[in-house]
Amino acid sequence: MNQFATMPAADAGAALYSSELSAADFREISELVRSMVGIQLTEAKQGLVKSRLQKRLRRLGMTQFSQYVAFIKTAEGAGEVEELISAISTNVTAFNREPHHFEHFRENVIPLLAKKIHSREPVRIWSAGCSNGSEPYTIACAVLDAIPNAGDHDFHILATDIDKYSLATGKQGIYTEEMVSKMPSEKAKSWFQKTDQGYEVHPKARKLVSFKTLNLMTSWPIKRKYDAIFCRNVMIYFCAEDQARIISQFANHLYPGAFLYIGHSERVLGPAAEKFVSAGATTYQYDPKKVST
Ligand SMILES: C[S@@+](CC[C@H](N)C(=O)[O-])C[C@H]1O[C@@H](n2cnc3c(N)ncnc32)[C@H](O)[C@@H]1O
Repeated sequence: MNQFATMPAADAGAALYSSELSAADFREISELVRSMVGIQLTEAKQGLVKSRLQKRLRRLGMTQFSQYVAFIKTAEGAGEVEELISAISTNVTAFNREPHHFEHFRENVIPLLAKKIHSREPVRIWSAGCSNGSEPYTIACAVLDAIPNAGDHDFHILATDIDKYSLATGKQGIYTEEMVSKMPSEKAKSWFQKTDQGYEVHPKARKLVSFKTLNLMTSWPIKRKYDAIFCRNVMIYFCAEDQARIISQFANHLYPGAFLYIGHSERVLGPAAEKFVSAGATTYQYDPKKVST
């Protein structure tokens, strides 16, 4: 137990009203977050960071941000760094978000995947920065709509994120009616079953998706290539250099002709950008033989 845990919650809560996040403490927090997970926190985010971390201070019985900053630098505070990153990361997502990607995927990719299945080749899709699972399950439902027996084949969707709470929601696979209402069709919605807890992902869709912790800023324990990578609304928080490095790593993990889907305000950057051909809005096809112009 840490040294602050004994402070009565009510006292801590009252004292928090006077707790300020100084520029120096904000700099330390933002530098730690940037170095660990790449998320850049500009000065404009100081108020947001303060409000998101206040709950953590309250939980730890701390009254000052300076105590919190000192704590996360100790060996005892190592576990708190994970909570800090979880509190700071933006996990906004939705089923069928940016629907044009799934339309492209249904029309152009799924028929190719069906052929691969037919010739007994493995199929791999990666949702990098998957948040609560809405993105990988939208992919899974699109696949099952067209290939209901996909799960009987070597067909896997890898769903990765840094946020353990989002990953836990994905693994649990239970969502609200409102969330599921965003699915593109009644057929796609039928992959959710109403239960007392909410709308549960059908076992066939669940079987296709594996949730894993993976920080895009560290070396990836991934050797294989993918038929499609979705990395949407994740790199927007990273600096251009980190984005370019990740794009180049994605290129190394895509089969020639495979597709990369990125968020609406992102773009492919850096030297590897030359190896991608635009295939629609924020949709790119990997073409390693492309001759630069
Ligand atoms: C805004 S959500 C986007 C979710 C989904 N891709 C979508 O477009 O709906 C961004 C996600 O990226 C994750 N993320 C941020 N930095 C990351 C990193 N370094 N490695 C892996 N995931 C990261 C966050 O935890 C969050 O769940």
